[in-house]
Amino acid sequence: MRLIELQGINKQYYLGQTPMTALSDITISFDKGEFTAVLGPSGSGKTTLLNLIGTIDEPSSGKILINGDDVSKMTDNQKSEYRNNRIGFIFQNFNLIPVLNAVENVMLPLQIRNEKTQVAREKAMERLNQVGLEHLALNRPDMMSGGQRQRVAIARALVTDPEVVIADEPTANLDLATSISIMEIMQKLNRTEGATFLFSTHDQRLLDRMNRLVRLEDGRIADAPEN
Ligand SMILES: Nc1ncnc2c1ncn2[C@@H]1O[C@H](COP(=O)(O)OP(=O)(O)O)[C@@H](O)[C@H]1O
Ligand SMILES: [Mg+2]
Repeated sequence: MRLIELQGINKQYYLGQTPMTALSDITISFDKGEFTAVLGPSGSGKTTLLNLIGTIDEPSSGKILINGDDVSKMTDNQKSEYRNNRIGFIFQNFNLIPVLNAVENVMLPLQIRNEKTQVAREKAMERLNQVGLEHLALNRPDMMSGGQRQRVAIARALVTDPEVVIADEPTANLDLATSISIMEIMQKLNRTEGATFLFSTHDQRLLDRMNRLVRLEDGRIADAPEN
């Protein structure tokens, strides 16, 4: 079953009067439970592509279908419902709240949904355990390494049981060994949790560990084997 389908997507940004093409003629789909790496140099359109799928941004033309529903026909409420309840985001800079400890950071998305504190804490501890950080639950981000912070961010993204996990260059600020371990944690969670993962990187060294690879060059798909 096609979970996410992009048909003839174009995206232009305007710098004053001058159009800047970020994505051209992107047609691609992602199945439920698939782990896809989007590889491309800086400026190739990775963030734009992931933001369109995450409904953070809208295409200039073309269609995006999610579970067969046309995103352009969704109301703002339906879009934010999809974004908040069915997507987990992981960012390059981790985006943890500095004054909260690890478990409090992971609990946050559940508390925003008015989950009981006790339940939120249990679910958060379970996720921290999955990323091997149970023992650092009470540490604040400034007491952790980059790789540990990113593992907290992975736990936070998964705590709401999202259907889709969008990770935009999650390893860009990490050394190679840590990048590989972060990627392996995501691949393991992809297998055990069944969520669909979209993982972007500009790091060529990670590519031989990927099942499905989509290469972006200047906003176009240079190479994407069919799924
Ligand atoms: N908000 C924006 N306004 C203007 N240009 C943008 C904006 N976001 C991205 N771009 C341009 O679109 C192109 C693709 O950017 P991006 O999707 O961020 O690529 P990547 O994530 O692969 O580095 C780049 O040339 C970038 O400068
Ligand atoms: Mg980017």
